[in-house]
Amino acid sequence: MRDLFLLTLGAAVFGCSQAVYSQQSNPSPVPVPVSSTSGGGNLLGLPPLSVPVDNPQTPAKIALGDKLFHDKRFSVDGTISCATCHDASKGFTDNLPVSAGHHGLTGTRNAPTVINAAFFKSQFWDGREPDLERQSKQPFVNPVEAGLPNHQPILDIVREDPDYKAAFTEVFKVGGPQLTMDHVAKAIASFERSIVAGNSAFDRYYFTGDKTALTEQQQRGFQLFLGQGRCVSCHTIEQDHALFTDNRFHNIGIGINAVQQDLPRLTQAFFEAKIRGGDVDKIVLTDKKSSELGRFAINDSFNDIGAFKTPTLRNIALTAPYMHDGSLKTLKEVVNHYNNGGVTPADAQATAFLSGGIRPLNLTDVQIDELVAFLEALTSDQYAKNGAKTGGSHE
Ligand code: HEC
Ligand code: HEC
Repeated sequence: MRDLFLLTLGAAVFGCSQAVYSQQSNPSPVPVPVSSTSGGGNLLGLPPLSVPVDNPQTPAKIALGDKLFHDKRFSVDGTISCATCHDASKGFTDNLPVSAGHHGLTGTRNAPTVINAAFFKSQFWDGREPDLERQSKQPFVNPVEAGLPNHQPILDIVREDPDYKAAFTEVFKVGGPQLTMDHVAKAIASFERSIVAGNSAFDRYYFTGDKTALTEQQQRGFQLFLGQGRCVSCHTIEQDHALFTDNRFHNIGIGINAVQQDLPRLTQAFFEAKIRGGDVDKIVLTDKKSSELGRFAINDSFNDIGAFKTPTLRNIALTAPYMHDGSLKTLKEVVNHYNNGGVTPADAQATAFLSGGIRPLNLTDVQIDELVAFLEALTSDQYAKNGAKTGGSHE
């Protein structure tokens, strides 16, 4: 019931948060499913990918987006690109607890993977942007990320640089003042829509019926994921695909205890900052305590204090450390957190804002290891070769 309430509330307020916080109002694109992207190969286990009608995928656009994603000139000190924090060799994360931007300034949040972000119904831990196009404009002007004062320095480069001039002319038929941040954002989003990966051991086990794809330990872990662990209630698996996220927001007891005492003051200060026209993207990434407000910062709902978006679990073994604040170092620490009923350390007090779905699980040490082994079976073949740290049972 509460979940249903939250879902409706989330949907109802979402439209107005966009109007308030996104500077550019794109025409709302109607997503069209691209059926050729579902099915086997690297995409085994993924749903069809929706692509906005006003931003179709083309190889040239994806290549342009790739170049923009890696261009360090779009930062105040020339050292930061999207790839600094979303590095392909680290599962498109930075493997840091919280990201470091220009001049080593640190933010408040852990960089989520960009792999499969194309499938999410909202972007960022608190879902404050609705799609990749709008998400991609923010990091350039965030004071602790690329740190630019505005988007003009980017436009100056892409309108002058011969390679960019040629590419934007080819892809969008634009140049000079007609070339805007919307084109830059579209190209980056197209590149991100090409970073999709299924085909893990789990997918071969579950979707193609290869019973040898998972070890017996992992199979027992899968049963715990579905049953006693109740993980699947938020990290969902559908009949013909799995994204391991319900695209909703839950408080699972991370970071909230540090601000619990301060909530009356914090929520009041946040309301006031918003009324004064404060930019939520900047506030939550520069102020540690405001960051902990989670979804509340977007929808003003006290029910959503400390609630964050359920992240995908695909490629989770590559993307340690974990949670919105990077506070849990290994998958074993994560499973322990759930086993404790949403608290770390085990003797801490559970928050009053905790999701109803989180309660002690009574898993044995053997079962905890089984669950971790299952999570390690979610790495896509195409990224497994990185040999990145498993984040598994070893500290
Ligand atoms: C300084 C590090 C840093 C840089 C640079 C950076 N990001 Fe991020 N990225 C983050 C962090 C941290 C978050 C989570 C922030 C939040 O949720 O409030 C994030 C979130 C995202 C998400 C949301 C994923 C999800 O699951 O919700 C996407 C997509 C993304 N970044 C793409 C990009 C793109 C594109 C660029 C370049 C334009 C970029 N990032 C630059 C650190 C960075
Ligand atoms: C009530 C919904 C819910 C349930 C049940 C749940 N999760 Fe989560 N999970 C979340 C949310 C929300 C987050 C992010 C929380 C945050 O950062 O504050 C998360 C984060 C994670 C992460 C870290 C992901 C990352 O990228 O940092 C892992 C791993 C994980 N969950 C595994 C599990 C396992 C294993 C179970 C079952 C034992 C489980 N979850 C049960 C909602 C849930």
